Amino acid sequence: MLVSPSLLAADFANLHKEIEMINRSEADMLHLDVMDGVFVPNISFGFPVIKAVSKICRKPLDVHLMIVEPEKWVTRLRDLGVETMNVHQEACVHLDRTIHAIREAGMKAAVTLNPSTPVAMLEDVIAELDMVLLMSVNPGFGGQKFIDNALAKVGRLRRMIAESGSRALIEVDGGVNAKTGAMLAGAGADILVAGSYVFASHDPEEAIHSLKIL
Ligand code: DX5
Ligand code: ZN
Repeated sequence: MLVSPSLLAADFANLHKEIEMINRSEADMLHLDVMDGVFVPNISFGFPVIKAVSKICRKPLDVHLMIVEPEKWVTRLRDLGVETMNVHQEACVHLDRTIHAIREAGMKAAVTLNPSTPVAMLEDVIAELDMVLLMSVNPGFGGQKFIDNALAKVGRLRRMIAESGSRALIEVDGGVNAKTGAMLAGAGADILVAGSYVFASHDPEEAIHSLKIL
């Protein structure tokens, strides 16, 4: 299993220490949650934090944009060295254009779906995607309860990917811990995002390891 710890649950007063832990750990990437207070009812952090993190983090950055008009920021994120740019399907009027802009900028293109958005919404773009991020909570906050319908969605998306010949990886975000992570592994997920399970743990590196071995 690939693991992408979500920085949202980290101690922001000790960010350097938290990133050093991520660098030492078995994490495959670092998940950064950007919120604008419009697309989701919360505000998190933006470019200054991403820039600071990118200077010290040795893992690829997996940026999850919970913002309206995410297409405006393709160049900014590319210039900060971001590897994967996740945009919400619900936030993009011209999703195909945005996916191409992300790829042309040299980043991996990922599309995120809210729990209420069916995977069928991606049928016509799946071949262009490097990753699909399925939300297993309503986006905006860490520490929420896992929504079970994500398991069936992983299965449906797995079939769509196989039928289309797409290379897209399936990432799942929200309420992930060792128990829900094991269920997601069984359903066919490739990447697990985990915020509170990792950063609120007394041993974050061990928490990452427990997901890694799924
Ligand atoms: C929620 C964010 C998640 C969040 C997950 O909107 O997209 O990445 O950090 O937090 P946990 O793992 O605590 O559910
Ligand atoms: Zn996220």
